[in-house]
Amino acid sequence: MTDQLIATLAPYGLRCEHVVEPLGIGTRAPLLSWRLASTRRGDAPASHRVVVSANDETVWDSGEIADPEAISIIYRGPVLQPRTRYHWQVTVTAADGATNTSGSCFETGHDAWTAQWIAHDPADVEVVDAPDEGDLALPDHGLRPAVQLRRTLTVHAAPTTARLYVTARGLFEAHINGKRVGDHELAPGWTDYRDRIDYWTYEVTDLLQSGENLLQFTIADGWWSGYVGFDPRQAGAHYGTFPQLIAELHLDHTDGAHEVVATDGTWETRRGPIRYADLLMGERHDLNRELSPWRPATTVDGDHSRLVAAVAPPIRATEELPARTVTATGDRHLVDFGQNIAGRVRLTARDLAPGARVVIRHGEALDTDGTLHTDNLRTARATDILVAGAEPTVVFEPRFTYHGFRYAEVTGLTTLSPADITAVVLHSDTPPAGEFTCDDPDIQRLDSNIRWGQRGNFVSVPTDCPQRDERLGWLADAQVFLPTACYNADVAAFFTSWLREVRGAQSEEGGFPNVAPRIAGVADEGAPGWADAGVLIPWHLYRVYGDERVLADNLDAMCRWVDFVHHNNPDLVWRNRVGPHFADWLAPTPTPRDVVATAYFARSAQLTGLAAEVLGQLHTAQRYRTLAAHIRKVFVERFTTMDQPGFAVAGDTQTAYLVALAFELLPDELVPHAVRRLVELVNEAGPAVTTGFLGVSLVAPVLDHHGHPDLAHALLRRTEPPSWLYSLRHGATTIWERWDGYTAERGFQACAMNSFNHYALGSVGEWLYRGVAGIDQAPGSVGFRELVIRPRLGRLNHAGARYESVRGTVATTWSRVDGVLKLDVTVPPGANATLHVPTPEPDSVRERGLPAREAAGVRIVRVEPGTLVCRLTSGDFHFTAAAPQPQERS
Ligand code: BGC
Repeated sequence: MTDQLIATLAPYGLRCEHVVEPLGIGTRAPLLSWRLASTRRGDAPASHRVVVSANDETVWDSGEIADPEAISIIYRGPVLQPRTRYHWQVTVTAADGATNTSGSCFETGHDAWTAQWIAHDPADVEVVDAPDEGDLALPDHGLRPAVQLRRTLTVHAAPTTARLYVTARGLFEAHINGKRVGDHELAPGWTDYRDRIDYWTYEVTDLLQSGENLLQFTIADGWWSGYVGFDPRQAGAHYGTFPQLIAELHLDHTDGAHEVVATDGTWETRRGPIRYADLLMGERHDLNRELSPWRPATTVDGDHSRLVAAVAPPIRATEELPARTVTATGDRHLVDFGQNIAGRVRLTARDLAPGARVVIRHGEALDTDGTLHTDNLRTARATDILVAGAEPTVVFEPRFTYHGFRYAEVTGLTTLSPADITAVVLHSDTPPAGEFTCDDPDIQRLDSNIRWGQRGNFVSVPTDCPQRDERLGWLADAQVFLPTACYNADVAAFFTSWLREVRGAQSEEGGFPNVAPRIAGVADEGAPGWADAGVLIPWHLYRVYGDERVLADNLDAMCRWVDFVHHNNPDLVWRNRVGPHFADWLAPTPTPRDVVATAYFARSAQLTGLAAEVLGQLHTAQRYRTLAAHIRKVFVERFTTMDQPGFAVAGDTQTAYLVALAFELLPDELVPHAVRRLVELVNEAGPAVTTGFLGVSLVAPVLDHHGHPDLAHALLRRTEPPSWLYSLRHGATTIWERWDGYTAERGFQACAMNSFNHYALGSVGEWLYRGVAGIDQAPGSVGFRELVIRPRLGRLNHAGARYESVRGTVATTWSRVDGVLKLDVTVPPGANATLHVPTPEPDSVRERGLPAREAAGVRIVRVEPGTLVCRLTSGDFHFTAAAPQPQERS
């Protein structure tokens, strides 16, 4: 076999704390993990060994550890030193003794800050509260300039290593000798700064030179002191009132000397050309004004205890989109970028006279008269302004704001060439993990819209939308979308970071919030399905990434949450302390609140019990298992009936059956009744989905799991509202907040709440991977060790997905041509799969030309109607079989 000649089992994709070569980690016991690849069928690891070294000396040697499941290890060596680079190697030995080694590195962060917080004297800034933009009047509060801070530093010889540790209360951008430091945008991101401020570490060795060096920072309001959320009166009241900086530059010299340059009162500051910068309102660069003179920086109180190493991936500019069209009406140019994004534009403005003003407004859609639709932005002005100075040509790109838009309207230029304007896409740079393909262009576009929704809304924290005056970390949106997000990207570090905010926002009584980071102006008390994200998200992350620490970090908060609901609802029907009870938000057919709430109560209790069990806390596990069983019993007693005309869950809505089935609330004998009624309801509606945010993520997986995958396909294909393709038919390039955000008869939905980039309804993306492509985990599996490969063909003729799991690559590709089904499957080393080959003729199944029963790594398990079920070892498999007929629906 040629397989023998090709690579043996090898580790790759090494990560520390779920990040490739992180700089400045905070934990002293990091998780070191690797993926596995092999071209040999059936290859599996037998043991591994990890060696960590620093300065060419071994610091820790794990020794040979026999564990065929392992794809990670927690560092257990001597205490890691701060500000130190560690190299590590993992050697994996296969069952047949073959070994391969791979290496990576990480660097520890800073833990002994001496720097002071510094700022520009807030009394010296001009607040813009009645700007000269006419109809762009500001709500309530003014806007402050971005300010610059600097100092020079003389070094006698270029250092061997230099690191910059920096953060802001506000946003910062750093330059050394005129060169940009790093490529992070909107750093340090959004946390509840009262509890935690992420600092970032930058490798700056190459930016320094012997002789004089200039360190320069610009800082702006950002989430710290700018407009956040939808209550303009709260601007600047959430955390602080003016931006501040803290930074330390650490230099190591060849002679062993160590030098630290820290922010303090010797730094200088001035107001720069950015007259204001605000995340919601936009940014104004005024190049026609004299800059204020440099003056000493003001030092500001603030201890160092809240400074923590950043965990989440940084926000970056990940893509640039050219203008598709530019339409001119006088000096007004309307630019269409063809894609709704979160980000900003870069404009080369030409032929400018001193003092000329160029205004860029942003919007997601156009009104019927072809002008920019901005009503749905509410009070977010999303307007950037350039005032020209002496230079006739200026490249203008705002630095400290972002907008949700597909269109930009530029006024103030006589001509605008498409080549002079570009959209810059910004989001948290979570590594891509999955790709989905199929032969239906609509479903392919749906997948694209879902991905763009994820990109536009994972901006430091998972937000509801990127355009209007909201952009908050709503918990339900995040929990329903998480399974989809995990297939699209590696979001382990992103959500680990955000969960700190969720926990941080938990009330004394144990209540999780509705939004995290918590802000004033939003009801504190978490609603059913929203607050429960504090339980559902850690559990799902554990299953996908296999890192038990996410359960250990959250279990206490999970228990407190379930106890809180229980304490206030001793009869186990969750009616009290329901916060603003959003129920099945935005559902065409509402579901009774008690049903939704009690179902979530049962689910949270069940998952809390499971989490405790994983962590070996058996007493706790038993307690919540028992509670969950009691809630289920009450759910059945209170909310189900067997009267005429048959079995019903109270409300008799799709979501009522979906939560009952998905959360396993019903005894086995009632399940077929619930499935039958769910199927009836879906069919009666169109077939159509009539759920809101909470039911939508469950509909396709539940129908599929209970034997109706073709009905799930039918929902995917539907083009009338409510449906996923309806928005596509109306030009959507992202997922809409509402099923009917725009209709030909009525136009735009109530613009007080009508976002065109809201990912919650896009949570069907999970089923494209799990169902259509067929990449799933078995119920008890963690970290993709036990796969279920069961593609659901529907009417498609081709589909597939490639998913970079924590264990290695999982892939499927299937096609149906001339009555032959071709199915390629990749199972990563150390994993096994149960494969369901859909075929009317089980005997026709062959693997690389051999009858399935003779193929290496394939064991036939059973024949089901229309399906051959086999067990697969790891490896690449190529099956053919008689193809099933395309299915309408069941
Ligand atoms: C947000 C939602 C959120 C909801 C709570 C809305 O304003 O945009 O996505 O979950 O409020 O019901």
